[in-house]
Amino acid sequence: MPQWRTGLTKSLHASRSMPESRYFQLATADKDGVPYCRTVVYRGLSDDNKLIVISDTRTEKYNQLSQQAKAQGCWYFSKTREQYRFSVNATIVTENEDRALIEAHWAKLSDAGKKQFLWGDPGTPRNNGLPLQIAGDYSVAPEHFCVILLDIFNVDYLNLRGNPQYRELHRRDEMGNWVSQSIVP
Ligand SMILES: Cc1cc2nc3c(=O)[nH]c(=O)nc-3n(C[C@H](O)[C@H](O)[C@H](O)COP(=O)(O)O)c2cc1C
Repeated sequence: MPQWRTGLTKSLHASRSMPESRYFQLATADKDGVPYCRTVVYRGLSDDNKLIVISDTRTEKYNQLSQQAKAQGCWYFSKTREQYRFSVNATIVTENEDRALIEAHWAKLSDAGKKQFLWGDPGTPRNNGLPLQIAGDYSVAPEHFCVILLDIFNVDYLNLRGNPQYRELHRRDEMGNWVSQSIVP
């Protein structure tokens, strides 16, 4: 197991009473290099160390990641005063690629969480400010529901506790092995 994964597991455990500690910022770029950043919910780590996020293929991040798979996740744990910056290659999985994965993540959502995917096209104007209607059947995942797998190739870890602070780089080499180096903060 990569050293950063052990650390991240500990950070999550230390902050388990704080739901907001499961949010991180995901930055993407469009084809012109213009950056976009938004908050997402951490949905776990796959056996092969990919960060898992759920999303919607109708959102801008889908278009951006389709054009530029390289992205960065930035995660701050306020309780332990740790920051992780994950450089990643993103893959978007829909039911066409892996129905079982889609169904598994859809099943984990609450009804309220599922209904959010049936409010209509994200980013389009609302109809006179009327309450949003749920369109469709939420017992099955809609085709725009997707899982984003973030394949990490670099981790820049910073711990603000202590003086001096502690910073460490983890890099995945060409052979897939993780190389770690403590660096000046
Ligand atoms: C606390 C919080 C958690 C969020 N989690 C997710 C998430 O897991 N997946 C997602 O697609 N959007 C999530 N969002 C909404 C995104 O931040 C964003 O507003 C939306 O996905 C549209 O982004 P885009 O147009 O850049 O694609 C979350 C927002 C907040 C405030």
